[in-house]
Amino acid sequence: MIKLINDNCLNTMDFFIKNNVKFDCIFTSPPYNSKRFKKYDNFKDDYNCYYTFLKEVTNKMLKVSNKVIFNLQANYYNRNDVYKFIGEYSKNIQRIIIWNKSNPAPSSLKNRLTNAHEYFIVMTNGETITTNSVFVRDVINYPINSKKIKGHNAVMNEDVCRFFISEFTNKQDNVLDVFLGSGTTGVVCVDLERNFTGIEMDKEYFEIAKKRIEEKKDEKDFIPLTLFNI
Ligand SMILES: C[S@@+](CC[C@H](N)C(=O)[O-])C[C@H]1O[C@@H](n2cnc3c(N)ncnc32)[C@H](O)[C@@H]1O
Repeated sequence: MIKLINDNCLNTMDFFIKNNVKFDCIFTSPPYNSKRFKKYDNFKDDYNCYYTFLKEVTNKMLKVSNKVIFNLQANYYNRNDVYKFIGEYSKNIQRIIIWNKSNPAPSSLKNRLTNAHEYFIVMTNGETITTNSVFVRDVINYPINSKKIKGHNAVMNEDVCRFFISEFTNKQDNVLDVFLGSGTTGVVCVDLERNFTGIEMDKEYFEIAKKRIEEKKDEKDFIPLTLFNI
């Protein structure tokens, strides 16, 4: 089952908490707080305090699921907030998985290293989170997205999302993405037969996600005819 909600996730999560709606896993990609880089056309990514924002979202997510996984990039503008956040939630953080990006945008400045990695924070309320396979490494190697989705500039590489959904969830699990963006988590969940709920605040991005997820659903439901020679 797929449910897409065009709303501010903070409000929707309040509704979930009030009505005791729970999910097997939250997999999401919060805004980066990129400030000066124009990542989004429609969304102003300029929180006064990114730490307060992350805290508010995380507290709600941990009430809605016992398995919360999301990516964070410590950039020049937000790194103090990111490191403070990691310290504050050390008891909830079970693992930090590093995404080693094979094709990062190079930095030509001596005071800024090329930012070639992102963290994936794996959080729980105390339960032990397990992977579906063995010998899973805590460093993953994937390029940043090569697939361009018209209208959204922060689209996650589908293979990165596929790695997390395959390893940390099972078929028919209920997966939630509270920052749906262009809908990558939904596309992967349809493909891997997980139930999916996605929340996106911006109407235009919401429509992009809806279209992508519907197209994936049509593709999955299409059963090609096989011809046999008897
Ligand atoms: C990093 S992008 C997500 C990208 C997504 N993983 C993809 O592959 O397209 C973050 C998204 O969160 C949305 N957003 C920001 N604040 C939100 C909020 N409070 N509630 C719901 N969506 C929000 C932004 O509009 C943006 O599309």
